[in-house]
Amino acid sequence: MTLKQLSETPLKSGDLASAALNRTFSVAPMLDWTDRHYRYFARLMSKEALLYTEMVTTGAILYGRGDYLAYNEEEHPLALQLGGSDPKDLAACSRLAEARGYDEINLNVGCPSDRVQNGRFGACLMAEPTLVAECVDAMRQQVSIPVTVKTRIGIDEQDSYEFLTDFISKVEAAGCDTFIIHARKAWLQGLSPKENREIPPLDYDRVYQLKRDFSQLSISINGGVTSLEQAKEHLQHLDGVMVGREAYQNPYILAGVDTELCNRTSPVITRDEVIGKLLPYIGKHLAEGGRLNHITRHIIGLYQGLPGSRAWRRYLSENAHKPGAGIEVVEAAIKAMAGND
Ligand SMILES: Cc1cc2nc3c(=O)[nH]c(=O)nc-3n(C[C@H](O)[C@H](O)[C@H](O)COP(=O)(O)O)c2cc1C
Repeated sequence: MTLKQLSETPLKSGDLASAALNRTFSVAPMLDWTDRHYRYFARLMSKEALLYTEMVTTGAILYGRGDYLAYNEEEHPLALQLGGSDPKDLAACSRLAEARGYDEINLNVGCPSDRVQNGRFGACLMAEPTLVAECVDAMRQQVSIPVTVKTRIGIDEQDSYEFLTDFISKVEAAGCDTFIIHARKAWLQGLSPKENREIPPLDYDRVYQLKRDFSQLSISINGGVTSLEQAKEHLQHLDGVMVGREAYQNPYILAGVDTELCNRTSPVITRDEVIGKLLPYIGKHLAEGGRLNHITRHIIGLYQGLPGSRAWRRYLSENAHKPGAGIEVVEAAIKAMAGND
């Protein structure tokens, strides 16, 4: 589709989500992890958590062969994370995303991988606040859903508080009022993306300071949060908490989000109920020719910490990828769990 055609794509009425998304708790964008199957699974445990897609590049959306914007309706509220740095392309993708019903568009200014730096997007964009502001402005002109930015507290030697506030001020001036801050800087050379999530120290105080100095902005914190207790502590200072690895590796943490953080009184779903609700989704996926392990790889951490969780994990890991594997594999994994650990 050409850019001209894109700009002529009509918006579907009724697609404009409320700007007042609940940002108390969100699940971080994670490449290869937070795909649509994971997000469906996550939504069974929390109705309130704001879910983010994996980063999708503008190139994939505009020129790729697949439908990179596909998702299940049940996933709402859902934010699309875009990777890119061309204002025109980002604007075109934002417009497409809004027409598809996404509730928010988030720009990735935090990913440090080499591949991403070669494309001149991700964390290296922190050094180009004017370009980020242009991108945000172009995106906002096309859509009425929120356009947000996920970033770090600094990059390389540029890690002063002034560097961060300069970046935030310039992007705010382009109309962005919501930031998600991964509370550590990124080293663009020499560290792998994984190391960049572990080695640079977390500095929560810096993010709290940012909120004090920019109280008009919505600021969510990200990085190293592993319990709802910790999330509550951050929420004393900030508007929201974004959790990545813990929400993936120990997904049942999501089951407490609505009641513990969002004042819902609905009963907390049990792990077995989660599986019960997931089975029809798995069945549909298999009927459409999908592979079992494309879903089960996301659920192996569900019983983490409980007796039998190793048996569950092992049974699924050893059997779900086999050709023809079906729902009976999940049922057998439950039996294996009851039998031993
Ligand atoms: C496997 C994996 C993939 C990730 N992919 C993305 C991504 O696509 N976009 C992004 O902004 N951050 C990405 N991140 C970073 C997370 O969004 C988050 O900022 C980071 O993991 C720190 O939060 P945590 O300590 O709660 O995991 C990824 C992290 C992991 C573990």
